Amino acid sequence: KKETYILGIETSCDETAVAIVKNGREIISNVVASQIESHKRFGGVVPEIASRHHVEQMTVVLEEAFNASKLSWEDIDAITVTEGPGLVGALLVGVNSAKALAFAKQKPLIGVHHIAGHIYANRLEKEFQFPLLALIVSGGHTELVLMKDHGVYEVIGETRDDAAGEAYDKVARMLKLPYPGGPQIDRLAEVGEENIAFPRAWLEEDSYDFSFSGLKSSVINKIHNAKQREESLKDEDIAASFQASVIDVLTKKTVRAAKEFNVKQVIVAGGVAANRGLRAELEAQFADLAIPLIIPPLKLCTDNAAMIAAAGTIAYEQGRRSDLDLNANASLLL
Ligand code: KG4
Ligand code: ZN
Repeated sequence: KKETYILGIETSCDETAVAIVKNGREIISNVVASQIESHKRFGGVVPEIASRHHVEQMTVVLEEAFNASKLSWEDIDAITVTEGPGLVGALLVGVNSAKALAFAKQKPLIGVHHIAGHIYANRLEKEFQFPLLALIVSGGHTELVLMKDHGVYEVIGETRDDAAGEAYDKVARMLKLPYPGGPQIDRLAEVGEENIAFPRAWLEEDSYDFSFSGLKSSVINKIHNAKQREESLKDEDIAASFQASVIDVLTKKTVRAAKEFNVKQVIVAGGVAANRGLRAELEAQFADLAIPLIIPPLKLCTDNAAMIAAAGTIAYEQGRRSDLDLNANASLLL
């Protein structure tokens, strides 16, 4: 059988990324240009700045992805690109680059959902076994997705307000920590003590949905009240207590769903999957249950294009193709 080489392009937020993946599972090259430094002073991603950076970086990153690969355009079977969800101006740069390349190089074009990408980052580590349960935790998403086959996604739970990563970033901002706040809170939580009882939003008994806005408000109130009463409150302890609440809810709901649907694998995806506390708790719980757990290495947890090429490979093999009128869709459904 001939090898399949798929090019991936990702520009949904603040990383300009291009990668080449072989047979859906092997990274040939994976180049990511991060813009974090440009957004840091604004305390978050500024959409207009993100789009402009993507325009400047795209050809540079593309060239680097080829240089690192020893491949040429002749070897590439298809061009896959994140079509949504994300920042529309940022997505448009990737989508239009992919369309131009597909037209110029006469290659098939395939639009990929960003979350499908995060899920398929795990297949670069280990082959999937169905049914599997995916916990997606990023700056924009908190979802439990059941997969019975390749490319088929059933969302069984999602956040009703803030995403987990968003809650991390907002709490970090309250503590005057630099953007992105997730890794900062993670670091503080390791040395802090879990001595503040923050709420856990379990919602209805059988629900797999999440809610983090109440927790976020409760952290903000705690900080305000302590200030007014001139109580001393350690940032480390706030971080540890906040993180404990997030991890408790994420882990327990994931465990319950894994049991109910009798899954053969649990996979974790998205930027918050980099969280050391979350990784440790999930590893402990699923080791007890003897259900294999996959968490991608840090570099594949956050936004990258290898994950888009990996998800795109399945779409390619299943014969799915996009037309040259492919458009960016900021709120694309999985
Ligand atoms: O998947 P991602 O790179 O971008 C989105 O698609 O949203 O996720 C970024 C999110 C940010 O909210 C960031 O604060 C969070 O992931 N994050 C973390 C950690 N590393 C990144 N949250 C908690 N602990 C971490 N170590
Ligand atoms: Zn992402």
